[in-house]
Amino acid sequence: MADNPGTEIEFEIHHSQSRVPDAERGRMLQAPGFGQVFTDHMITLRWSAEKGWHDGKLEPYGPFTFDPATAVFHYGQELFEGMKAYRQDSGSVVMFRPRANAARFNSGCRRMAMPELPEETFIRALELLVSADRDWIPDGEGQSLYLRPFMIATQRGLGVNHPSSEYLFSVIASPSGAYFGASKAVKVWLSEDYTRAALGGTGAVKCGGNYAGAFAAQQQAVDKGCDQVVWLDAATHEWVEEMGGMNLYFVYGSGDSARVMTPSLTGSLLPGVTRDSLLKLGPKLGIPAEEGRISVAQWREGCASGEITEVFACGTAAVISPVGSVLGASGGWTIGSGEPGPVSERLKAELVGIQNGHKPDPFGWVHKVA
Ligand code: COI
Repeated sequence: MADNPGTEIEFEIHHSQSRVPDAERGRMLQAPGFGQVFTDHMITLRWSAEKGWHDGKLEPYGPFTFDPATAVFHYGQELFEGMKAYRQDSGSVVMFRPRANAARFNSGCRRMAMPELPEETFIRALELLVSADRDWIPDGEGQSLYLRPFMIATQRGLGVNHPSSEYLFSVIASPSGAYFGASKAVKVWLSEDYTRAALGGTGAVKCGGNYAGAFAAQQQAVDKGCDQVVWLDAATHEWVEEMGGMNLYFVYGSGDSARVMTPSLTGSLLPGVTRDSLLKLGPKLGIPAEEGRISVAQWREGCASGEITEVFACGTAAVISPVGSVLGASGGWTIGSGEPGPVSERLKAELVGIQNGHKPDPFGWVHKVA
């Protein structure tokens, strides 16, 4: 459902009259955690079958009111994105690869039978919010302004004969620190009885349903003393796919002969923007990077033989988070020394360096907002 081709979608600007005072905002930015603190404004934009995209606004952050029979509450027709804005030392405010998120969002819209949003409008919405709330961008180490665009089905009614005929697109922003808090390397739980996504399903799009169906396994992981779930392929539970909210990379070898591999996008994995960035950045740093596949048995054997030296999770929220150990129903093992390794740390330093302006941006990934 492409919409309003060639028509610019306007946003009315309604600034908040009750912004959080400077001193209080300063306190909130000191240790914001992840996804707990929200800024003064949000974006809203509506779509209906009759009007297309309309009623765009930058407005004060606040609750929505919906009829209890609104479609999203019952059938979960919903999509979201995760992105970040950074304040660079030069004072510039930038976003990282917003076009990649816009493209992934629209690919999700096609899968979820939701209306596509013109890329320029997606980016304009983000720019408006980031500019209005630029004072909320924290600049401590590992901190950024996490941006959460999302879209929900807002038609009233319980029928399921067709997708919703009305939608709300919104963007909220949350000053955030490290996703995994102070932990140095995370411990992961192999989910051998639950399945995240099968071929033909919605695993490759960022819809809330994928996460809703994952909480039982995530709870199991927490009960076992782990931080996150590792999902395996639906058919055999043999091949490694991804983690609960991030992709995975495996490091083979060390020093000059180190190379990295991430599971291929078979159709059931989320095509992460950070995952894609590392496929491009690795070779630039002399670290060959490829897509491939790895079974649980190969993972365990590779760690035992020393062939696999490091494993890390990557995502917008997680950035690059080393995985120190693995646990499954039949026992567990440690990866390398169990501590963050040099390849993960180098890739992280380079990626974060591009994002915060400390390193050159050879790929043109950084999008200046102000
Ligand atoms: C992100 O990295 O942006 C994500 O969406 C992960 C989130 C589910 C915590």
